This record gives sequence, structure tokens and C-alpha cells, in this order.
Amino acid sequence: MHDMIRELKVLSESTALPLAARDSDFGLPYNPQHSRDRVLSDAFGRLHTYLRISLVEHCNLRCRYCMPEEGLDWTPAPDLLTQQEILRLARLFVQQGVNKIRLTGGEPLLRENIVEIAEAVGRLPGLNTLAVTTNGLLLPKKLARLRAAGVNLLNISLDTLRADRFEAVTRRRGLSLVLRAIDEALRFGYSPVKVNCVMMRGFNDDELVDFAEWTREAPIEVRFIEFMPFDGNGWDARRLISYREMLAVLEGSFTLERLADDHSSTSKTYRVPGFRGSLGFITSMTDNFCEGCNRLRITADGNLKVCLFGRAEVSLRDAMRSGVTDEELLGIISSSIGRKHARHAGMHNLARMANRPMITIGG
Ligand code: GTP
Ligand code: 5AD
Ligand code: SF4
Repeated sequence: MHDMIRELKVLSESTALPLAARDSDFGLPYNPQHSRDRVLSDAFGRLHTYLRISLVEHCNLRCRYCMPEEGLDWTPAPDLLTQQEILRLARLFVQQGVNKIRLTGGEPLLRENIVEIAEAVGRLPGLNTLAVTTNGLLLPKKLARLRAAGVNLLNISLDTLRADRFEAVTRRRGLSLVLRAIDEALRFGYSPVKVNCVMMRGFNDDELVDFAEWTREAPIEVRFIEFMPFDGNGWDARRLISYREMLAVLEGSFTLERLADDHSSTSKTYRVPGFRGSLGFITSMTDNFCEGCNRLRITADGNLKVCLFGRAEVSLRDAMRSGVTDEELLGIISSSIGRKHARHAGMHNLARMANRPMITIGG
């Protein structure tokens, strides 16, 4: 036990950022310029302080809800953002007031230089949270270096606790590796470790109670996510389980207590009194949380996407490669944010609209 405490202490001393618990633990965002709120604010008064950067499009799993069965035409490597371009954008956004950056994919740990990118991003003054969303397969190999680079929030995707189902949904084996990744993240002091679980009727809905039971002893936050439509993912309203339905099932076995969430949270959080972990619901389909949206996305091919479900994208890569100044880049970013809609179009419309496949957005 003492060894473990010593190890955790050494780990946390070696990093630029402390381990993050919740966004609300942090103070006001860094404010180097008075004009910055203008760039990151939209027409509805939402300030965008959270940037998700996709590092790669591809993945070492093939989740059915995330990518089309037939595969994709991946963007050729020269058309993906370089490390230098990613860092230029990260610096610019953080200077404007972004205080949280999440590295996503595809599977971000497949990006060879993810540790270098994380180190450079983690050093940006004003950044409070450096997060990664991963499927966990490569995490044990890279965790120590990511931790040292300043990654202080880890979200790991896991939709089932059964090996045969894992293989059915991901079209690959790997359940034991993901469970090991979650254990390792806990051992490294991440608390909570967030476990993202997309709920689909007839696939994993009979595991709600098993996932909740896991939070009895483990300081994890299991987040049940409503199944969302993206190009080529076989979405069907009948497979969607609303969070109210999930809550009702869980309330059959547990007493649930609602916890406070940040205004910009994607998740509604609950806890079973006495359990070490917690449960969350990401209710994009049946109770959208667009009103508090503070998120922007940069895709691996360099497009700024101001809404997960918005088709409007602008190529920051092309702008940078044509030699624009930082000021000009900020102008492009600011107008794009200015055109962001108040909310997404509603699930039935979204199911009919073209969007990228999820794997090329990064969540
Ligand atoms: P935290 O920062 O730890 O709260 O995580 P997060 O929810 O922001 O990110 P994560 O990558 O763990 O995503 C979990 C789920 O939330 C995925 O299904 C995402 O697609 C979904 N999600 C994340 N951001 C948004 C958003 O802006 N809008 C909607 N509708 N869904 C989102
Ligand atoms: N619906 C809901 N969540 C999804 N994710 C990927 N595709 C979908 C979808 N169709 C989740 C993954 C991952 C996060 C980035 O997005 O499970 O945890
Ligand atoms: Fe933000 Fe769009 Fe998600 Fe709504 S759907 S929360 S506006 S990214």
C-alpha cells in the first residue's frame, strides 16, 4: 500500500497538470487578452472553452455504431494535420481562452507522436484539463508517458462486460485488454476514470445493472450514452434506449441520487449512496444539452466543426497552408463559431441528414 501511495505521489509530482476530478474544480480560465471572449463566443452567448482535437481517423477496433461495415476511404497522410499545425491551433485556441483540450481519434493512441503532442499541449499556460478519449487497447503501454506529459483526465470506451459481445460490436477481440487499461488508469491515480458505454436495445441493455454494480467498489464513472445516428452506423430509433428508460431499469435495483453537474456537462450524473463510483447519462437524443455547449472540434484533416451534428465545416488546414496569419486564422474561427446553431436538429432529422462517420469526428 505504502509503495502504491509513494508511486502515485511521484507520478503526480512529475506532471505539469494535477489530476482532474471535475471541471468545476478549476478556477477562471486564463485571460491573456480582453478580446478573447469575442472569438470563442457564439450568437447565443455560449463561450467555447473546450476543444476536441482528433489526432487520427483510423482505429484498431471496428465498432459497428462508429464506422460503416464496408470501411472508409481514409484521408491520405499528407492531408492530415501535422504536429506543428496541431500545436499552432492548440496554442491559438488556448490563448483565446480554451482551458480544456481532449485528444480524440479514431483511436488517438495510434498517432505515433501523441506523447510529444500531449507534452507540448500540456505546457500551454492557461490549460487546466488535458484529456484523452481512448478504447484503451494501447493505454497500458503509453500511460506513464501520457501521465508525465500532463494528461489528467481519461475516458475509456467499453460497451459490454462480455467477451463474445465485445467481439460482436467491435469486430475484434480485446475485452481483457480494456479491463486492464481501466485498472491501470485507476492505479495511476485517475479518479474517476470515465467509462463510456453506448447503450443499444437488444445488444447490451441487459448489462445496465452489471455496469452499475461495478461502481460499488471501483471509483469509475460509468456513462451510459444514448445511441446517436452518424453516416453508415445502422442507427434505428428502435435500438435507442432513452436515459429515462435506463434510469427506470436501474431504479429497479438501486437507489439513485442525482449529483450536481457543470452547466456545460455532457452528462447527468447519479450515484448509488455508499458506492465508490458514479453513473452518468449522456442524453444527446432525448434531452439535448446544447444550451450549455462549450465544445469545438478539429478533425484529423484539419476542419473546424462547431457542432457534433452540424454539417458546416471550415478547413483550418487549408487556411494555414495558404499562409494566413494568426489574426486571419482567428477571424475564420470566430465567424465559424458565430454561425453555430442554437441546438442540433432533433434525432429524426439527424438520422436523415448527412454527417461524417463518427470515427472521423472523434466523439
Ligand atoms: P468529459 O469531458 O469527461 O465530460 O467527456 P465528454 O463527454 O466531453 O467526452 P467523451 O469523449 O467521453 O464523449 C462521451 C460521449 O459524449 C460521446 O458519445 C460523445 O459523442 C458525446 N459528446 C461529447 N461532446 C458532445 C457534444 O458536444 N454534443 C453531443 N451531442 N454529444 C457529445
Ligand atoms: N452514439 C453514441 N456514442 C458514440 N460513440 C461513438 N459512436 C457513437 C454513437 N453512434 C462514443 C464512443 C466513444 C465516444 C468518443 O463516442 O463510445 O466513447
Ligand atoms: Fe453542442 Fe452540437 Fe452537441 Fe448540441 S449537438 S451539445 S450544439 S455539439
